[in-house]
Amino acid sequence: MRYLTFALTKGRLAFKTLELLEQVGITCEEMKDKDSRKLIFVNEELKLKFFLSKGPDVPTYVEYGAADIGIVGKDTIMEEGRKLYEVLDLGFGKCRMCVCGPASARQYLNNNQLIRVATKYPHIAKDYFYNQKNQTVELIKLNGSIELAPIVGLSEVIVDIVETGSTLRENGLEVLEEICPLSARVVVNPVSMRMENERITDLIQKLKTLVSEN
Ligand code: PRP
Repeated sequence: MRYLTFALTKGRLAFKTLELLEQVGITCEEMKDKDSRKLIFVNEELKLKFFLSKGPDVPTYVEYGAADIGIVGKDTIMEEGRKLYEVLDLGFGKCRMCVCGPASARQYLNNNQLIRVATKYPHIAKDYFYNQKNQTVELIKLNGSIELAPIVGLSEVIVDIVETGSTLRENGLEVLEEICPLSARVVVNPVSMRMENERITDLIQKLKTLVSEN
């Protein structure tokens, strides 16, 4: 039997993902050791391998088949646009992709004005403004703390993830438009899905049952 490899997202999603896998009997003790510098972890008994990577790299590993299965946010799947199967919504990591800004920026959206949009998600923002709203905008790519942009005058609005809304509130910003809901998803390499169909569908079925019970 060959190894099935999982690419997991480092950070917020990692803990929840490991918890979920544990509930379906997939454990990886050595992964829990926070001091370890090891990058890849093995469960010999189940013939599984796991590694953690930055969210945007997860779809890349899965598309190329370096990982058979990935667990990653819907935002990253949309932004990366890789060729993979999205097979399950895990129902955690729930948040929303939104257009946000000061209340005063609402008029620019209503009048379809040529505004500047700062975001970590240029593809999602471009698709939303150009294809869904037919509004020409200038996109500015940032890498974090996106909420700063309208405060310091870099852009009129931002496209960003809103979870609790407290970052917006504490900075005098608000949700102006909602683009789509987000959560953690399971993605699968299309070739792996064919070659290892039984093992993969069995695992997805177990996760699906667990998710529907929660
Ligand atoms: C995300 C997002 C918002 C914040 C939303 O940033 O970009 O800034 O969380 O959460 P809230 O609605 O609960 O306040 P993250 O903390 O991941 O870091 P980043 O700003 O570096 O992207």
